[in-house]
Amino acid sequence: MNKFALGLMSGTSADGLTLALLNVKAKKLVCFKNYAYPKNLQQTILQAPSFNTAQIAELNFKLGKIYLALTQKFLKDFKINKNNISVIGLHGQTVYHNAEKFCTLQIGEGAFLAKILGIPVVNNFRPAVISLGGQGAPLVPIFEDYFFAGKTPKILLNIGGIANCSYVQKGKTFGFDCGPGNVLSDFAISKLTKEKQSFDKDGKIAAKNKADIKKAKEIAKKFLYKKIISLDRNAFTKTFFEKYFPHLTQKDLATLNYLTALIIAQNIKKFILKKYNAENLYISGGGVYNKTLLNNLKNLLPLNIKILNTLNPMAKEAACFAYLAYLNFNKMPVNKILIGTQKNTILGALNLP
Ligand SMILES: Nc1ncnc2c1ncn2[C@@H]1O[C@H](COP(=O)(O)OP(=O)(O)O)[C@@H](O)[C@H]1O
Ligand SMILES: [Mg+2]
Repeated sequence: MNKFALGLMSGTSADGLTLALLNVKAKKLVCFKNYAYPKNLQQTILQAPSFNTAQIAELNFKLGKIYLALTQKFLKDFKINKNNISVIGLHGQTVYHNAEKFCTLQIGEGAFLAKILGIPVVNNFRPAVISLGGQGAPLVPIFEDYFFAGKTPKILLNIGGIANCSYVQKGKTFGFDCGPGNVLSDFAISKLTKEKQSFDKDGKIAAKNKADIKKAKEIAKKFLYKKIISLDRNAFTKTFFEKYFPHLTQKDLATLNYLTALIIAQNIKKFILKKYNAENLYISGGGVYNKTLLNNLKNLLPLNIKILNTLNPMAKEAACFAYLAYLNFNKMPVNKILIGTQKNTILGALNLP
């Protein structure tokens, strides 16, 4: 019996690939695992936005093969019979996203999984949304509305490279990118340690110093968004640092951490709390490990802030793409409210084995 859908997610942090096996009908996460990428692969992916066509094509195939190898490893690690998987949802690696130019690119060739593993693969989820007037990101509200919506409204916040949040209530769920996530801190640490370290473990470096709150407030004003948007990681890397932190030192980690929380908090207030009532906010993504960031968010938002507990907080995005693949495979359209399009539509491209 083909009961399961498998989701593969690698976010803008390029720290690894997360696989999640979902029993869609039972609303149950069967198992999941994050496989960390080697440092040099992470660095290659993070540099991809400035690659030429040949380099992009090579990375596209390299990632396709990596996705196949890690999926085979996952099936072995959890003793999963591949005949139990009806479809794979492959997000792919975003190397460019510019909603203002109506353009997005996820790479990582799906043919290896489809042809060699012999399981249908759905990928290219975002272009359909953009072709119908939407931003193409975030897509996770579709999954959140199905998996988390209940009687009481709640706010879900995912802190990956970029942060996105959703107001979740059946029929009213919507989401948007609300600011930088781990990207500011990751980029700074990487720069300061000459790429020896890629993140501020547990937020310890940020906790060592006092944030320059005045400076953070000044910068945050530029990131109070006018309308609901989606963001590219590259808005918070080289050019951002040249402009706002040209003489970066370890002490700035405290300010960058506070600034991240401030941008997220101000956009949640503007786009959600001004119009809707909610008491609880549940955080997922790698940001849950950054204790300083969680403390800053707690101080800046009038909400009960908790770590997501109804699903492993590291599995949400991968589980989302398992669900999206299931929808495509069963020709089930997505409601336009959830993705900001002109009409309901089926998302993704189906690659048959
Ligand atoms: N122990 C930790 N302490 C602080 N931050 C962490 C820790 N583990 C992971 N992270 C952060 O989480 C990020 C990865 O989160 P993830 O949700 O996978 O993001 P993405 O979807 O962008 O890949 C890392 O780049 C790092 O910033
Ligand atoms: Mg990741």
